[in-house]
Order: sequence, then structure tokens, then C-alpha cells
Amino acid sequence: MFIGLRRGRKCQLIHLFCICFIMSLLLIYWEQLDTHVVSHMKSYSYRYMINQYNFLNDSLSVSNQEAATLVEYPYLINQEKKCKSQDVLLVLFVKTPPENQQRRDTIRRTWGNEKYIRSELKVNVKIVFVLGVHKDPLKRQGMQKRLLKENDIYSDLVQQNFLDTFHNLTQKFILQMKWANTFCQHANFVMSADDDVFIHMPNLVAYLQDQLHTGVQNFWIGRVHRGAPPIRDKHSKYYVSHKLYQWISYPDYTAGAAYVMSNDVAAKVYTAAKTLKISLYIDDVFMGICANKMGISPQYYPYFSGEGKAPYHPCIYNKMITSHGHLKDMFYLWKETTDPKMASLSSGFWGRLYCRVINIILLCKPYYVDTYPCRAAFL
Ligand SMILES: *[C@@H]1O[C@H](CO)[C@@H](O)[C@H](O)[C@H]1NC(C)=O
Ligand SMILES: *[C@@H]1O[C@H](CO)[C@@H](O)[C@H](O)[C@H]1NC(C)=O
Repeated sequence: MFIGLRRGRKCQLIHLFCICFIMSLLLIYWEQLDTHVVSHMKSYSYRYMINQYNFLNDSLSVSNQEAATLVEYPYLINQEKKCKSQDVLLVLFVKTPPENQQRRDTIRRTWGNEKYIRSELKVNVKIVFVLGVHKDPLKRQGMQKRLLKENDIYSDLVQQNFLDTFHNLTQKFILQMKWANTFCQHANFVMSADDDVFIHMPNLVAYLQDQLHTGVQNFWIGRVHRGAPPIRDKHSKYYVSHKLYQWISYPDYTAGAAYVMSNDVAAKVYTAAKTLKISLYIDDVFMGICANKMGISPQYYPYFSGEGKAPYHPCIYNKMITSHGHLKDMFYLWKETTDPKMASLSSGFWGRLYCRVINIILLCKPYYVDTYPCRAAFL
């Protein structure tokens, strides 16, 4: 009994010690934790209001007069006939600055190879690289010559006369919507992607063809950000002042790395874009505001990635649509993912079971990894 009592005391001591330790940790970190959690909860609840009501339209719309004075940048390089007289499943814009020829070449030789898509997947997908002019005036002329030469070979560049900078990405967004609505109106889908995104073209095409059967409308998918708060830290690349955007949460939008919409959405969003203040330079948020104005909301398809990469595994390749942050490994991934052996791995009852288990192990971690969400494993 004596021993039992002592042991009890020891336990109590450890207990007390643990509580003290946790309390002191909480005290130290409370402020950070508090502002973080509270700001997220606030913006998340705010999102219902933003998504539901018209404040955005009311505060960000410009008058017809103002809209008429908005600058339209002329095309320097264009592909007016790219979509002409043919069925087009998808027009896919790749946002790329002039200096990234190497990335464009990689895309042309991997997932963006239009000939491969036509012969193997039996559909027309049009890859269009969208650019502005080089931001450095000293390099601009030389770069422009190189771009013209590149375009002579591939005929897939579309360039407008604005500076290709991060803060002009909204201009590039408007360029895409304008081009799709002018030169490729009949394409069933419109997609926008970064130049370091890997796209599993066969999976994407199959997925879009599936949607087509149901007479697709108001279709807008990607990795959805819900109730994301504007970043008020002046040092951040994504800093947005109160003056530029006064609300504490953005409307729902899809990450700019890669998203797809049906052609009716592209038309509506373009109409909205012409009536909104374009000073908001974060292009994917701007797209969200345009869609919000037109009453369109995004759907989250878990196999679109945001900032993160997909895990390298054949069971993932079976279902992945996009993965972000690929440069050198683009060729490797393209070869692996289009290898017929990979598909056979997950076929049949045992194959499917095996891949289900592997995908759960790869995607459902107890800590946060920026890749596909856990529920992707159950799709
Ligand atoms: C958006 O605002 C403009 C001008 O403030 C108004 O004319 C238009 O009807 C509004 N649109 C919607 C969908 O509420
Ligand atoms: C966007 O491009 C226009 C036209 O070239 C230029 O005048 C403006 O400074 C650019 N804006 C930014 C923020 O780079």
C-alpha cells in the first residue's frame, strides 16, 4: 500500500509537470496560434457571406464609362486560325514568360504534344502559350526576335503588348478569356495552367469527355481555395492592401496552377472581367471574383494539385490530373505515366485493392503534406 501511494504521487508529479509544460508552450505560442486560428475561422465564416451576397459586385464594379476606357493591349503574335473548322475539346493556355523557352519546349515534347493527343487520344486539344513582352527593355528586342523565330516553328504563341510581370497576371488572364471567346469559342473546355505543371493528358481527356456526355454547363474545377483570407503582410508576394480589397475573405476560387472551365463559364467570366476593377493582380482570385459576380462556384476535384507535387507512384498515375512544380522530371513523368504497363498494375480486383491501399498510405498522413487530399484515395 505504501508503495502504491508513492507511485501515485510520482504519477501526479509527472501529470503536473506535463500540464505546466503544455501551459507554458501555450502561453508562448498563444498569440500566434490565436491570430492564425481566429483569422482563419473569421474568414471561413465570412466566406458564406461573400459567396452569397453581392458586396463584391457592388464594391468592385466599374461604371460603363470607366469600362470603355480600360486599356486593350494589341496582339503582337497571334494564332487566329488555330481552332478554325475543327472540333476542339479543349483549349489549354500555358502562362509563360518570354524567357522560358526551355519549359515550353519540354511541354511540346511531353504532355502538350498536340500530334500525340490527336493520334493517340483521338481529340483536338489546342495548346496556346500566352505571354507579354520581356520586362527588361534592354533585352526586349533580342527576345522578341527569338520569340518570332520560335513561333515560326511551332505556331503556338499568343502575345500581347504588356509587360510580362507578376503584377500583370490579371492582364494575362483577360488575354486568355478574350482569346478563347474570340478565336476558339466552340472549344468545349478552356483550361489555364502554369508552365511548371505536369498534366496527365490521357486522364484529363477521359475525364472531360465523361463530363461532355452530361451536357456540361457552369463547370469549373480545380483545387478550390475556400474562404482564403487576403494576405496583409507587406513582405509577401501575394500582399493585398485593404484599399485594393477590403473584405476579410476571398470568394471561393481555384488555384491558378491549373483549372478547367466549360465554354459557357469562359464566356460569362470574360463578360464579368470587362466590368470589374482589374487592379487586383492575383489572377486566380480575380477569376474567382468574376465567377462570383456571375453566380458560378468552383468544384474541387481532388486530383488537381495546388502548390504541391503528386507522389511518384503508378497507383497515383492512374488517376492524377495535374501536379505542380515539375521541371527536369517532366520527361520522366510523361514516360512513366503513359507506359501501358502502369495501367495494368491497377486493373482487376486485386490490382484495384492494392492501389486503394497504396493510395491511402501515400495520401492519408497524420501531418500536412501539400499534395492530393486524403479523400482522393477513395475516389
Ligand atoms: C453588379 O453591379 C452592377 C453595377 O453596380 C449592376 O448593374 C449589376 O446588375 C450587378 N450584377 C449583379 C449580378 O448583381
Ligand atoms: C503592365 O503592363 C503595362 C503595359 O506594358 C505596363 O505599363 C505596366 O507597368 C505593367 N504593370 C506592372 C505592374 O508591371
